[in-house]
This record gives sequence, C-alpha cells and structure tokens, in this order.
Amino acid sequence: MTYVAPNSVQARDIASIVHPQTNLDNHLRDGPVVIGSGQGCFVYDDNGTQFLDAAAGLWCASLGYASERLAKVAYEQMRKLGYYHLYRGTTNEAGVDLAEKLLSIAPVPMSKVLFQCSGSEANDTALKLVWYYHAAIGKPEKRKVIGRRMGYHGSTSASISASGKADMHADFGLPFPGFLHTEYPHYYRHHTEGESEEQFATRMADALEQLILREGPETCAAFIAEPVMGAGGGLTPPRSYWEKMQAVIRKYDMLFIADEVICGFGRTGNMWGTETYDLKPDMISCAKALSAGMQPISALMINQRIFDAMLDESRKLGNFAHGFTYAGHPVTTAVAMETLRIYDEMDMLGHVRRVGPHMQRALGALSEHPLVGEVRGIGLLTGIELVADKATRAQYDPARKVGPTVERHARKHGLIMRFVGDRIAFSPPLIITEVEIDEVAARTRKALDDTWAEIRSH
Ligand SMILES: Cc1ncc(COP(=O)(O)O)c(C=O)c1O
Repeated sequence: MTYVAPNSVQARDIASIVHPQTNLDNHLRDGPVVIGSGQGCFVYDDNGTQFLDAAAGLWCASLGYASERLAKVAYEQMRKLGYYHLYRGTTNEAGVDLAEKLLSIAPVPMSKVLFQCSGSEANDTALKLVWYYHAAIGKPEKRKVIGRRMGYHGSTSASISASGKADMHADFGLPFPGFLHTEYPHYYRHHTEGESEEQFATRMADALEQLILREGPETCAAFIAEPVMGAGGGLTPPRSYWEKMQAVIRKYDMLFIADEVICGFGRTGNMWGTETYDLKPDMISCAKALSAGMQPISALMINQRIFDAMLDESRKLGNFAHGFTYAGHPVTTAVAMETLRIYDEMDMLGHVRRVGPHMQRALGALSEHPLVGEVRGIGLLTGIELVADKATRAQYDPARKVGPTVERHARKHGLIMRFVGDRIAFSPPLIITEVEIDEVAARTRKALDDTWAEIRSH
C-alpha cells in the first residue's frame, strides 16, 4: 500500500479522475505517478526524479517534452484566431497550409484531407467512409471490415471494433457485428518448425483469403492495418508479408486503410511506413508525431476514388454529413505545420536513418540475455520478446507478471518503457541521440538483470 498524503495531487487525482488503460482498483490504492515537467527525451516526476522515456509518451512526443518554438506558434495563433471550424464551407489558412503540406508528402497520390483530433477519430472516419463509398458506388452490401488480431486502431466504438484487442472488447459488447480479424504477423512467436519468413507470410495471406471466402467477398469492404504493429508489441512484418497481403486485398476489390498513427513522420526511417513496405492504401490515417504530440490533431488522407464517391453522395444527399467541432482547429493545425517544418529543417529522416541502426544494434545486443527471445525492429522502433525458454520459445505464465516486473525495475533505474504482455516496445522520441540510446539499452539491461535475479530467487 502506497502512502498518499491528504490533499496531495495524488489524493485529488484518486478522488477525481478515471484513467485510461489502468486497473481502477489498484489506482485507488496506489495513486498516480505525477509527471511535472519534461525536456528533450526526459520527464521529471513531482519529486524531481528524472526518467528517460523510451516510449515517447504514447509514441508521440517525437520532439521531446518542451518546445519554445511550438509554444510561440500556438500563442500567436491563439492571439490571431484561437478557434474556428471548417463546417459549411468555412476555412482558415492554417488548416489549408497543413492539408497542402500533407498532400505534398503523401506516399501515394492522395486527393483530400479530413481533420480530426485523435488517431481513433481518424480511423473512425475512415471506417465510415468505407461504408459511404460502397453505398455510393452501388455496393451497399460490401460492409465488412477486416482488421488483425492484436491490431490497434483506437478506442472509439468502431475503431476498437476494427482492432484485434480482446481485452479492449471484453464486456463492452464489442466488436460490432461486421468487424472481423485475421491472423497477425508475429513470425517469431507463431512460425512452425522450419517455416521461413516467406512461407509464414504466405500462410498469413492464405488465412486472410480464406476468411474473405468464408464471409463472402461481395460483403468484404476493407482491410485496415498498421504498417508496423505498435500496440501489438512493436511487430515488424516478416519478409514478403505486405506484398502477399495486398495481392489478396486487391483480388477481392477491398479498400485498404493504412493506419500510420505511429509509423507516420519518420518512425520507420521513411516519412511513412507505407513507403517502407511499399503499400498502396486508399486512405491513410495519421496523428501523434503530426504535432509531435503537442496538440491533439489527426488527419485522414483519402484518394481521388474515395473523394469522387463522396462528391456523388453530396450531389445526391445535399451534404457531407460528418464532422467534429475541433476538426482543423487552427491552433492544432498551426502547431502541426510548424512541427513538419522543424522535421524538414533538422532533417529528421536523416537523423532517424543515422541513429536507428545504432538503436537496433544496442538493443539487439540484449538478445544474449537469458530472458530475451527476440529483438527485432526498424528505424526507431524495436520490440523485445521475453521468454521463459529460448530454445522452445515458451512464455512465462502471465501470473508471474514478468513484464510488469521488468517495468518496475526499469522505473527504478529511471527508464520508462512500454509493455504489451511479455513484449517491450521501444519507440523513443525521434530526436534521441546515440548517447541516450546507449543509456536506454544500459538501463534496460539492468532491469532485465534485476528481473532475472528475482525470478531465480523464487
Ligand atoms: C496505430 C494506432 N492507431 C490509432 C491509435 C489511436 O490513437 P488515439 O489514441 O490518438 O485515438 C493508436 C494509439 O496508440 C495507434 O497506435
């Protein structure tokens, strides 16, 4: 039981806030960690204890935790026009600037941009447009959406339905009917004896095709996926996976939504995961690093085919009946635009390409550790899988809580990491230096050593 002082921020938090992705009962007992400030890749709690954040918050603080330059842009925008909307044909220059910029850097030809405030809303919008598009082209029966087990696309009702996270469906009565999930490409864990990455990828594409055939191709409308799975554990796809999956999507005339919410803006060493894996999506959702996490903004880019169908609907119905009060909010778009300028000026892509291999090597060296089964990643994204037995790839019994134990030791060593089951996903701020990467690896090693010692002492 943690001591929580009366009237402290912790006590007031316990009395007033429901926290996302938190055990509410434990929280009533233990209270929160209060983060007071941040600078570069570090954050500080209310005692001034420093933590190196190897997760960039939630994959989003690409420029670290404080920015004078972005603060000034937000301030100036608030003084000039602190709010306006995009409804009924109104616009503002900040939004237009950002939309143009996004279209100019899109990895495949895109026609228009829709703004929202979060990754969930961008994907929710994409899912609605899937249905709208098929209604517009006279195929209203084509409504089923296929995602992947362990895929994550957000917490709104439709986005979480498209996600393959059973824990996030439980007792919410979700997923909604019409949302299906195919296998996910976790080669290390799920390949059979002697199966190559290519053979595994073929099996994944076959599983998708079988699912479509079982459901009826005439009812299957879209496939949604992250180029690299983030909340699934930082899983990079096996060789030839995307080529084979896209062939199936095309064969059955389904739309493809690339969820670039974590991959977009340099994470994989290219501006988009779509470029890294040669994807051909019809819609691309992005958020997080779009504004370096400093403003709540997301964007959905759609191609001409989707826009043409929407145009037909507007002619028929008289209106595009969808939108959010804060979509294209000028402060969010101005900050996002400045973020993209900063990326250009500092050659963010060049930086990720330089330090990314260093991170893969530094964390890759941990594969020798007795607790580690696999280290695999790309750019500034790495997944480490913990195992009970390296030879058989057997996992620890979840009841042993090995992941949370490593996390607890990491905190003690001043490191914030992100766990998904027994997998650690590393996604530090994109500005991280080689020295800081070495520090992430050293602190991770200490946390693994402490966990290993604890396991052996029981
Ligand atoms: C791939 C992906 N899509 C969508 C989302 C949802 O974004 P948000 O939390 O901004 O709604 C996330 C969040 O982590 C994500 O990782």
